Amino acid sequence: MSLPGSPLPVAEFVEMPGVIDLAWGHPDPDLLPVEELAELARTTLRRFGPEALAYGAPAGPGPLIEAVVDRLERTDSRPPRPDEICLTGGVSAALEQSAKLLADPGQVILVEAPTYHFALRILASHPLEICPLPFDAGGLVVEALPERLARIRASGRKVGFLYTIPTFHNPTGLTLTLERRRALVELAEAEGLLLVEDDVYRELSFDGPAPPSLWSQAPPGRVVRLGSFAKSLAPGLRVGYLTADRALAERFSGQPWLQSGGAPSHLPSLLVATCMAEGLYPANVQRLQIAYRQRREALLEALKTAMPQGTTWTRPAGGYFTWVTLPAGDTRARLSAVKQAGSGYIPGTTFLPPKRPEACGPLAERASRSFRLAWSRYSPENLRESVRRMGEALRG
Ligand SMILES: Cc1ncc(COP(=O)(O)O)c(C=O)c1O
Repeated sequence: MSLPGSPLPVAEFVEMPGVIDLAWGHPDPDLLPVEELAELARTTLRRFGPEALAYGAPAGPGPLIEAVVDRLERTDSRPPRPDEICLTGGVSAALEQSAKLLADPGQVILVEAPTYHFALRILASHPLEICPLPFDAGGLVVEALPERLARIRASGRKVGFLYTIPTFHNPTGLTLTLERRRALVELAEAEGLLLVEDDVYRELSFDGPAPPSLWSQAPPGRVVRLGSFAKSLAPGLRVGYLTADRALAERFSGQPWLQSGGAPSHLPSLLVATCMAEGLYPANVQRLQIAYRQRREALLEALKTAMPQGTTWTRPAGGYFTWVTLPAGDTRARLSAVKQAGSGYIPGTTFLPPKRPEACGPLAERASRSFRLAWSRYSPENLRESVRRMGEALRG
């Protein structure tokens, strides 16, 4: 979409007529609360007056910090104290800051294989070495970690942190088991390993409450949890938060650029606080859970009839994505046929770091015949049609 008279794009996603592309992990425009936010933007400006347009506090405006405490009290097993929170410009911005603040140049960053492809690119834009860890149906293979750590340390390298998406993982939709959560937190404490927990999908839980965050289970200083309002309200707000112990939170809020300008997204942060105070936020989350649960069902049901025999896929309990594995074939090579048919996916190997020296577990080994599908952007009817087209192209 462009401004009238301007060729420049407004949003990242550009609709291609006739194409139902399930590559995109974006929300359905019909699920973005435009009218409600228009009303509450007015309320916010009236309520906070000039303070809404002033430079913000470095850790973010107090009303949203308090609202995050209140929300996590309901959705996680332990709420943070206000001084354990720093508001961010979303998980992407917070991960960029983490790469800068939590690791020294040359250090190793451990990641799951597969993992969020843009996280790989953010981390790779810093002078850091990315090392993949095995991942299976139960999430990160925590049992493999001691040997990996020992090998890295024996070679004289140091680990900056482990980046993990334990809840409704991107790209697989899988969730780290409770046993492995416990084991990971214990191991991290014993090994002095810092965990950066990407918790962006916590609110999009379809089959009961999301599991407790690693942050809520770990001793202070062991985990930095990155949360966001991108998936639960609207990505365009660019508002997120992190929870960490006070010293780590202050490392983020004490950065000179925040001291100079205040937290990113000051006015949108106050708007989110108003959404919480006025009840729009919990109602919106409930609406999204219902809509996305229906879409998950529609997509997974459609796969049963459309995909080649022997194809498997995950059944995520939340989030945006399922991970599909064909019995044979290269999904990168077959993408153009799928696109020609008016559908689309992201090939599995996109989610692997380029350097994969060791065995990375069953999902990574099958990544070349796998792909990620998102149910977030399209109606159940369009999802069914897209999967039908995809199946025809893949079977043809
Ligand atoms: C795992 C993961 N982390 C982070 C993001 C981006 O988060 P934000 O919009 O808060 O920057 C996404 C969005 O697709 C994601 O899937």
